[in-house]
Amino acid sequence: MTRFDDHDTVWLFGYGSLIYKTDFAFLERRPARLRGWTRRFWQGSHDHRGTPDAPGRVVTLVPRESAICAGVAYRITPAIFAPLDHREKNGYLRLATALTLDDGRDVEGVVYIATADNAAFLGPASKQAIARQIAASHGPSGPNRDYLLHLADALRELGADDPHVFAIERELLALVQRTLA
Ligand code: BEZ
Repeated sequence: MTRFDDHDTVWLFGYGSLIYKTDFAFLERRPARLRGWTRRFWQGSHDHRGTPDAPGRVVTLVPRESAICAGVAYRITPAIFAPLDHREKNGYLRLATALTLDDGRDVEGVVYIATADNAAFLGPASKQAIARQIAASHGPSGPNRDYLLHLADALRELGADDPHVFAIERELLALVQRTLA
């Protein structure tokens, strides 16, 4: 996707690790919302939060009419896409999208989405099964549970309600308590 390559700056919408892991240069950061998409732990991760034999689960967005996904928008230069494309190479593609910034502005931007046709896509499962998989998975970027807990904390900081993420977090914490008991 090269549509923004000749722009000076581009808005990038983050809804997963990009919300809390900002190891890239940006000019501005603002809470933002994306309409028509909802966050799901449906993408497999064999390169960050799991391994090829035991993939973890990370979030992607799936289309859902009337849904609003809360996240963070970063104003970046197009040169930042190259390292991000590398960091997020496991099935995610850049999509151009409209997004709404917290000051009410509607802007055009970019979001990384892993669609159902990518090889690492895992799709739906019960919240208990997703929590069990996350609890058991580790990869080069660390335990999958840290990804979930950081994301849930970051969403609370944004004041965002995400029943899917928070339900899986509750399942994971209950699982950890049962393991320690
Ligand atoms: C994000 O946090 O928006 C993101 C999720 C998956 C891949 C790349 C970025």
